[in-house]
Amino acid sequence: MSSNGAVAEIGLIGLGTMGGNLALNIAENGFQIAVYNRTTEKTDQFIAKAGDLAGKLVPSKTLEEFVASIKPPRAVILMVPAGDAVDAQIEALRPLLDAQDLIIDAGNANYHDTNRRAAASSERGPRFMGIGVSGGEEGARFGPSIMGGGANDAWDQVGHILEAISAKHEGEPCAAHLGEAGAGHLVKTVHNGIEYADMQMIAEVYGVMRDGFGMPAGEIGAVFEKWNQGVLQSYLIEISGKVAATSDPDTGRPMLDIILDRAGQKGTGRWTAIEALMLGTPASTIEAAVAVRNMSSRLEERKAGEAEFGAAPVSLGQDLIAIDALEAALVAGKIVCYAQGFGLILEAARQYGWAMPLPKIAKIWRNGCIIRSAMLNDMSAALAEDAERNLMLAPFFSAKLKETEAQLRQVVAQAALHGLPVPALSAALSYFDIMRTARSTANMLQGQRDFFGAHGFERTDKDGSGYHGPWAMG
Ligand code: 6PG
Repeated sequence: MSSNGAVAEIGLIGLGTMGGNLALNIAENGFQIAVYNRTTEKTDQFIAKAGDLAGKLVPSKTLEEFVASIKPPRAVILMVPAGDAVDAQIEALRPLLDAQDLIIDAGNANYHDTNRRAAASSERGPRFMGIGVSGGEEGARFGPSIMGGGANDAWDQVGHILEAISAKHEGEPCAAHLGEAGAGHLVKTVHNGIEYADMQMIAEVYGVMRDGFGMPAGEIGAVFEKWNQGVLQSYLIEISGKVAATSDPDTGRPMLDIILDRAGQKGTGRWTAIEALMLGTPASTIEAAVAVRNMSSRLEERKAGEAEFGAAPVSLGQDLIAIDALEAALVAGKIVCYAQGFGLILEAARQYGWAMPLPKIAKIWRNGCIIRSAMLNDMSAALAEDAERNLMLAPFFSAKLKETEAQLRQVVAQAALHGLPVPALSAALSYFDIMRTARSTANMLQGQRDFFGAHGFERTDKDGSGYHGPWAMG
């Protein structure tokens, strides 16, 4: 492809809301950017609305023109729907690009797809990298968190642009190269799994306040707003407060009272649970959050359940659970959930041989992304002390867990007694209890396995493995 007339430092395909905002962000940071969309109409509308930034945008009507407008070696960001559309776009670009050009998938790809695409690109070119981008529409426009995966030379080529457009935490860019191939997309997937769990635990304490204490949405909003000034300070607590405090302009009723209780999901939380199971690493809080979304979608079944069994026997006063205990339970649940999420990333790093610098990952989640929170700063410090250690055992977080464990237990126990489901908090408590128990009950599992299948076991009093019980003799 001729490079005569190439003016753009980078290109972007896919001018949907996320892609369009990312392109404007890149332009605003001073980079000349080529843009292309399958339908020219969308490109024209995008340029027409770009205002002062239009001068930094180089629109094209055809893919050939688009490629020709980028300076070699070219870098092309794809912001198209995850899945087949990405493969189709790569195939369309491949004949137009040189081997040393670079395609960057910035969508929410499954990291296995990114691994596959990276492997194919190293055989046939052009180069390929996958970046996880978090922060929704606003983040894309004004500074997302960017989790980079791919070869070092790919990051070397575009890292300065990605860092420039990313969110900053005290001046530090929330963008980093985390490892080869699908490493960035795996970290983004785990980010979303944590997002699911964080959201679910907030929804559970909302449920205790709504159904247990009978608090109106506005009052619950004020509680979240107060928590947002303390240890739980985070984007998700902040927006939960805002959601709870907002009224429906049509009816005047609280928005929360008219939003149907059936949660959507595009799949990344589910992928986290699947990966945890495949990698053999516990992520029970995240798994619970995914399961609850699935249960929420069974609205008719839930209605039939209530008709059959009656509503839960709630009459839970604040004498049984104080509001402060709910805050403490969330703190404990959050620590456990992150311990699981970082554990998952660590296991993936081991199995794939990826760098995955955990303290850096915590750092680039401190701003721009959906799970940004004050606690991530302390997590980064704890992981810098020892990235291999379970986060729960870091002195800062073990002290926090010792402070909050009793309240987590009280919230889960009282909620269970009163029929209020708190599955993610409860999974967090069970994880905590298992991980603080040196002598578990898996000896029974091993006995059962040996009994029915002669699978063998290890003994507490002798070295070696492959022992059998006397039942195997007869
Ligand atoms: C982010 C978000 C973003 C998106 C989720 C929503 O980090 O910016 O996680 O990726 O909002 O995909 O996911 P669900 O539709 O599965 O809830």
